[in-house]
Amino acid sequence: MAPRKLIELAMRDMITHGADEIVLETEYDNLASLTLYGSMGFIKDRRLYRFYLNGKDAYFDAIDNE
Ligand SMILES: CC(C)(COP(=O)(O)OP(=O)(O)OC[C@H]1O[C@@H](n2cnc3c(N)ncnc32)[C@H](O)[C@@H]1OP(=O)(O)O)[C@@H](O)C(=O)NCCC(=O)NCCS
Repeated sequence: MAPRKLIELAMRDMITHGADEIVLETEYDNLASLTLYGSMGFIKDRRLYRFYLNGKDAYFDAIDNE
């Protein structure tokens, strides 16, 4: 299944179960995932310094469903 489709299905399920916010996290320089998430309406919410064990920062991308 294409990643975009998988995320859409997961989002639909989360919304059905009452989620008011959906958050994805990825390495700050992961252009492919940041572009994919951005194209689906996610916005960069926070940058977490050295979030990963490899020392890289993370972006938390969020959609508010309210
Ligand atoms: C991120 C990832 C899952 C996208 O996979 P994919 O098979 O291209 O996903 P889909 O076909 O569902 O979506 C394609 C969209 O992803 C984005 N995208 C994919 N590759 C891209 C690239 N090299 N540069 C920029 N955007 C890219 C675009 O938004 C693209 O849409 P478009 O084709 O209309 O331009 C894939 O690159 C991957 O597996 N990366 C390694 C693992 C990873 O980073 N996982 C996410 C960790 S948070």
